[in-house]
Amino acid sequence: MCGIIGCAGDDGDMVPTLLNGLAKLEYRGYDSTGLAVSGSDIRVVKREGDLDELVGTVDSEFDRGGAAGIGHTRWSTHGKPSDENAHPHTDCAGRVAVVHNGIIENYQLLRDELQSLGHEFESETDTEVVPHLIGHYLDTGLARKDAFRRAVEKLDGSYALAAVFDDHDEVMATKKDSSLVLGVGDGTYVASDVTALVGHTDTVVHLHDGEFAFLTEDGYTIVDESGTPQSKTGTEIEWDAESVTKGSHDHYMRKEIHEQSNALRECLRDRFSTGDSVSLDAIEDGYRPESVHLVACGTSYHAALYGAKLLRKRGIQAQAHLASEYALSPPPVRDGALVVGVTQSGETADTLSALRTATAEGARTLALTNVVDSTAARECDDALYIRSGPEISVAATKTFASQLVTLVLFALQSSGQTSDETERLVSALTELPEHVQRLLETTAAPTTARRFADSSGYFFIGRGVQYPVALEGALKMKEITYEHAEGFAAGELKHGPLALVTEDTPVFVSVVGDDETARKTVANAKEVKARGAPLVAVTDGVSSIDRFADEVLTIPRTNRTLAPILVNVQYQLLAYHTADHLGRDIDKPRNLAKSVTVE
Ligand code: F6R
Repeated sequence: MCGIIGCAGDDGDMVPTLLNGLAKLEYRGYDSTGLAVSGSDIRVVKREGDLDELVGTVDSEFDRGGAAGIGHTRWSTHGKPSDENAHPHTDCAGRVAVVHNGIIENYQLLRDELQSLGHEFESETDTEVVPHLIGHYLDTGLARKDAFRRAVEKLDGSYALAAVFDDHDEVMATKKDSSLVLGVGDGTYVASDVTALVGHTDTVVHLHDGEFAFLTEDGYTIVDESGTPQSKTGTEIEWDAESVTKGSHDHYMRKEIHEQSNALRECLRDRFSTGDSVSLDAIEDGYRPESVHLVACGTSYHAALYGAKLLRKRGIQAQAHLASEYALSPPPVRDGALVVGVTQSGETADTLSALRTATAEGARTLALTNVVDSTAARECDDALYIRSGPEISVAATKTFASQLVTLVLFALQSSGQTSDETERLVSALTELPEHVQRLLETTAAPTTARRFADSSGYFFIGRGVQYPVALEGALKMKEITYEHAEGFAAGELKHGPLALVTEDTPVFVSVVGDDETARKTVANAKEVKARGAPLVAVTDGVSSIDRFADEVLTIPRTNRTLAPILVNVQYQLLAYHTADHLGRDIDKPRNLAKSVTVE
């Protein structure tokens, strides 16, 4: 979703600071970017397109100066990507400039009222009513802070807002249902998320709904809705400046795929108490949920499907739900039910809404997330961190692997079972980071990707715990290559989708071990092959699949429960190299953004 940044400082050279912050927020949207800097006149520059467009414009046209500034990177909701619809927006007299993430639901009503008072609008956005409202209250004689607060009182919907005024070196900010964090370092900052502040400050403070923050070069003050000052304790940022750069890689996605073995090591660190007994500090020892609903979107939903299978295997009633559907018809929440929000960012609006529904229904809630103190982490009863480090690429990769491993740990602790099988699983978990590393060093995925890069579509099939990664393999392929890709349960193919299979649609199948599940999957793969489709097997080499597959991508042998994580690394690399071959903008896929903060 849109990313916003604001800064107050005394260096008088706000523009590079804002551009630097926007570069770190660009994954939240790249339809347009813009910034505004205080001064005797507010200077605003904004452009359709990604940050490079703005950088060129700023260099040639923008007069630097002012000690307070705001910036925005946009994922369009109201109004197409264009210069006019880019943020910041200003009032008619150019006294205030505003950036916004979220949706102002009553904007049409407000716009009609303001137009009847003579206000002229320049964009199609919902946001533009905000500076006009502030301008309206300035016209009635209110001071800047009061005008800002009165304007915000009129808004319905979700918003993170930051504003600067002419002749005034202060940034004002507020939020409702959209995240904003504050930090003090070489300046005073406000941003949509922590990533933008890494390298500027060691500690961040999360603004809560209804609070207002006022930033100057000397620091910030926070007041609540009634104007009462609030004092807050900061959260330490554990991510270093290096972790939010591409390093030596061409793309964040490639870097993040290659970070997976370290991310998994971090995920597993200190999570075993004695021998094979899991100890997650988020959940008290001995806690056994009667039933578990996992709510999530996109890639995280695929992790939730996997988690539900594991929990059911350990005797716990469990279901995965698409978060956007959960609130519409929540299943009955009985005593002892736990609702787990699986969300990398902890800010996805659909998932937050599902979790809030669950809370209202009386369920205990748990956030399984990557971002410390994210909204999901704060609103849920407990937070279980996946510890992946920052993920910048829009396409989730390392966080998916860490979600799966965290769900394995969660299933082990929640069931409290110990058995030989559990012991083997725990031992395999400790070897997993090494297996991922070996796979990354030996994979043949780049060659396979090039061979099939001009296909007319891609299908991914898997059975049991391999089914969620078939869905995930297809999602990754379609989102960064823009080619048609679908994932199916292997057994479902013959019930319809087989009609789509041709000589020009490679089918990727994962087969691990040689048990009944594997043998049934092999049979499904043969059905595909018989219809002339090229068959690519991702396998540990135990079954007979490699004897008739057209291509084989090998994974190290491991416990069958964990094998999907290795299969998925091959699928991530396939998608990455196919997209690279096709010349796609891998880290910024068309129409998408990370952290989807609208429903
Ligand atoms: C796809 C992807 C998305 C996210 C989804 C949920 O690569 O990243 O499908 O998984 O938007 O995001 P989180 O996990 O932040 O709730």
